[in-house]
Amino acid sequence: MRDPGFFRSRTELVCDDVPLSAIADDVGTPVYVYSAAAIRTRYHALDEAFGGYPHRVHYALKANSTLALVRLLRELGSAVDANSIGEVDVASRAGFEPREMVFTGVGKSPQELARAVPMGLRAINVESAGELERIEAIAAAVDRVARVAIRINPDINARSHRHISTGLKINKFGVPSGVARALVESVRQRPRLQLVAIHVHVGSQITRVEPLREAAAFLAELAAELDSRGVTLEYLDLGGGLGISYDGSYVLSPCEYVGALVDAVRSTRLPIVIEPGRSIVGPAGALLCSVIDLKPRDHESDFAILDAGMTELMRPALYEAFHRIEPARPRAEAPRHYELVGPVCESTDVVGKDRILPALQVGDRLAILDAGAYGAAMASNYNRRPLPAEVLVDEGRWRIIRRRQTIDELLALEE
Ligand code: LLP
Repeated sequence: MRDPGFFRSRTELVCDDVPLSAIADDVGTPVYVYSAAAIRTRYHALDEAFGGYPHRVHYALKANSTLALVRLLRELGSAVDANSIGEVDVASRAGFEPREMVFTGVGKSPQELARAVPMGLRAINVESAGELERIEAIAAAVDRVARVAIRINPDINARSHRHISTGLKINKFGVPSGVARALVESVRQRPRLQLVAIHVHVGSQITRVEPLREAAAFLAELAAELDSRGVTLEYLDLGGGLGISYDGSYVLSPCEYVGALVDAVRSTRLPIVIEPGRSIVGPAGALLCSVIDLKPRDHESDFAILDAGMTELMRPALYEAFHRIEPARPRAEAPRHYELVGPVCESTDVVGKDRILPALQVGDRLAILDAGAYGAAMASNYNRRPLPAEVLVDEGRWRIIRRRQTIDELLALEE
């Protein structure tokens, strides 16, 4: 059976049997389209890969926190990883209990901690000695015990893989293991704090197993050492990071990924928490846009100017990320060479460099694929562009889960 999501039915590009051009006709473009079936399948594949090993999937909201998708993930049995108090609020409104949330992030403001500590979250993942103290002070002030996890920077040599090297940012995230040991000791002296886990997250869009296995093994070793010193943890938080295939090349399967994690930590017998974002929602979303202008670029290629660009999907401009781009309804014309660009006044606003597509005309619809993660969530109002609409396809029907922003809404906050 075919994986759910985006595929071609005869010539039309569809999302689970709904033609994308029908959605574009109705809602206009740019519009994000998501497949509920793809999200379900991808969530279950990760969850079920654990077999009987105790675990909990905490979906990373930063990848996409559109409320309807967050509710869908809750129905599937997911918990969440929130990276700001805003994401905690979104999770609460989607029906998650505080005990289903871990609060991660390298910088939590005093206001965020003041809100988070009394909630009784599953854990606040602590990134520094100072943060631990601030959490303790708030816990004392509100007469609570705060559940904390310590995020460790394992200093894993990621030279073998440039994506992880850029994702690791060794100076910013977590604390070195020496500091972590000291923090663990200090938590034991502080009755307002309860250490529930240790945490690693070594990067995102990881397509090889080694760094993930290494990070998990690192955490398992530290957990065993802590255990021998009488520190019992509730679980190990192994972060997110499982990559997806943007260009059709090989990536890890959920089973290979989870198998490596479980093998690495099994001897600790501790339950595993993972925080996947991209691997659940990435391939389940596409950004549907229209060609709004065409003009010659050089003697062999043309510019196709789209009504979506870096404001709707920042990844190509920010990381030179590659996304497949396909016509919703290809013309039976000879292929041509295009530079697919957005309308924003920046020369980095290129969504597809050097693409060969059947000859385009103004008004044609294109789908930018694998845009479900870090797409809508990172959209901006630059150039006063309203945030795009979002549509969810579910069981052959579709509905708008977020309508297009209006200029009035955009200005509502201003004098
Ligand atoms: N947990 C923590 C602590 C994280 O920092 C992240 C992502 C995740 C989990 C989820 O990682 P995932 O499973 O999605 O790889 N905007 C970039 C990606 C930034 C990832 C930030 N942290 C992009 O579009 O590629």
